[in-house]
Amino acid sequence: MTDDASFDPAAELGLLDGLATTRAIRRLRPDPIPETDLSTMLWHATRAPSGTNRQPTRWVVLRNTPETATARGIIAEGFADGWGTKADDANYRSGSALDPETRKGRQMAAMEHLVANVEHAPVIIIPVLLRHRPPNPLEGASVYPAVQNLLLAARALGYGGVLTGWHRSVEDRLAAELGLPDNAAIMGIVPLGRPEGQHGPVRRLPLADVVFDGRWDVSADWATDPEGTRFAGPPPTTSAPRSTPEARSEKRSGRPPSG
Ligand SMILES: Cc1cc2nc3c(=O)[nH]c(=O)nc-3n(C[C@H](O)[C@H](O)[C@H](O)COP(=O)(O)O)c2cc1C
Repeated sequence: MTDDASFDPAAELGLLDGLATTRAIRRLRPDPIPETDLSTMLWHATRAPSGTNRQPTRWVVLRNTPETATARGIIAEGFADGWGTKADDANYRSGSALDPETRKGRQMAAMEHLVANVEHAPVIIIPVLLRHRPPNPLEGASVYPAVQNLLLAARALGYGGVLTGWHRSVEDRLAAELGLPDNAAIMGIVPLGRPEGQHGPVRRLPLADVVFDGRWDVSADWATDPEGTRFAGPPPTTSAPRSTPEARSEKRSGRPPSG
C-alpha cells in the first residue's frame, strides 16, 4: 500500500497475494472514490459466478452527497443497533475486549469506529438480491461471491471495506428510502474507502484443523500452511445444534449473520 500517485496496484499485487491479504477495513479516510475506480470495482464484482448465470445481484451505490443523507442516517441507526446486539452477544463488554492492546480490544475499537463513522464513509455499497422465487438457504451463494470480488477489486486499487449485516433492524425503512422493488432483499452493507490502516496477511485457522482427506476424521497431511503463516485464535464457541436435513430445510434466509 502506498500513497504514490504512480502506484499501479494491479501490476504489483498478484491474485493470490490479494486473497491472502484482504482484511476487513473498518477505518476509512474521507477521500472520495473516483467514478472510474468505482466502475472498475463494480465491473470486477459483476464477473462473479451465480446460479444458472442468472446474475440476481444489483448494487445501490451511496456516495457521500446530500441526496443520500437520509439513507445514510438510516444505515447509521442500523449499525448502532447491530453493534449493540453483537457487543452483548459476543462479550465485547468484558474481559480482553476492554484491553485495547488485545486483538479483541483492537477489533472492538475498529467496530466502534465504523459504527460511529459509517454515515460519512466515502461510499456505501448495498448489494441487493432480486428474488425470482421464495427465500431459500442458498440464495446468498449467488450474491456473496460478487461481494468478495468487490472487496478484492477494492484491495487491488488501494481501497478497503467490509461486508456487514447491520442493516437488519432498518431494512424495511432503508428499502423504502432507496425505492427498492418488492422482490428485492438487502443482503449487506459495504462501506468502502481508502484504508486508514493497512491491509495485510489475514489470520485464519490452520489447514490441519479445517481440511479432511476423504472423511471427517482423517486429516490431510498434504494440506500445509506456508511458512510464516499466523493463525487466528479459536472461533467463538457456539451452541448451534448439529445440522440435520430437517434443520437445514427450516433455514429460510440466506442472508449473513452479523459479524
Ligand atoms: C457474513 C459476514 C458478515 C459480517 N458482518 C460484519 C458486521 O456486521 N460488522 C463488521 O464489522 N464486520 C462484519 N464482517 C467482517 C468479519 O467480522 C471479518 O471478515 C472477520 O472478523 C475477519 O476479519 P479479517 O478479514 O480482517 O481477518 C462480516 C463478514 C462476513 C463474511
